[in-house]
Amino acid sequence: MLIIAVDGPAGAGKSTIVKKIAQAFDCVCVDTGAIYRTVGVFASRAGIPTDGIEAVVPLLDQMEVRVAFENGVQKNYLNGEEVSAYLRTEEISRYASVVSALPAVRAKFLSVQRDIAKENSVVMDGRDIGTVVFPNADAKIFLTATPEERARRRYVQYVEEGKDVPYEEVLRTVKERDARDEQRAAAPLKPAEDAILVDTTGLNEEESVELVIRLLKERLS
Ligand code: DC
Repeated sequence: MLIIAVDGPAGAGKSTIVKKIAQAFDCVCVDTGAIYRTVGVFASRAGIPTDGIEAVVPLLDQMEVRVAFENGVQKNYLNGEEVSAYLRTEEISRYASVVSALPAVRAKFLSVQRDIAKENSVVMDGRDIGTVVFPNADAKIFLTATPEERARRRYVQYVEEGKDVPYEEVLRTVKERDARDEQRAAAPLKPAEDAILVDTTGLNEEESVELVIRLLKERLS
């Protein structure tokens, strides 16, 4: 079974790139952020505030998170209910960012992530796949772009969706999330020593995909 780790900050283009990698290398594409987002839905529904998120830890035993793949599409289940449609809101992004800093939460999902790779060749999109989940992955990519470039991409997406959010606010949110992901004690966002660093600043989607697939072919050959 092949394991490809793709880590990096939010907005670097990981989700698009991992889908293309999955096609090129015939593997299942796993979005590990969705797991933390599902925990976020649980915490939000339990009425736990983001600034007192530790209160979720004693409730973890009441929470079963499962991911399944139907025709290559990831479905995320919280206590048997499919919650995939609720994961991409700003509120749940904030929850995911704080729950993922809790060591107890991270520990609970290590085996979930590792088990997926027992049955499938995988490309996994996350923050700590190459450093913690699969230190022995066959290939590791660390995908970055400047905060300004990542904020610009998100801003363009918001405009396309008809959302009126000032660019400066988008940039501030990007920097805040980076700081939380990089500075947390548990599995902070950082490149593995043997990761291939790819900066997509100034590259469009097609160019980024082409570059990453070429680098992976070289690494895996
Ligand atoms: O990739 P994403 O934006 O959906 O991730 C949501 C949050 O979960 C983000 O704040 C980082 C965190 N995360 C993590 O800590 N470890 C992972 N392997 C994946 C995501």
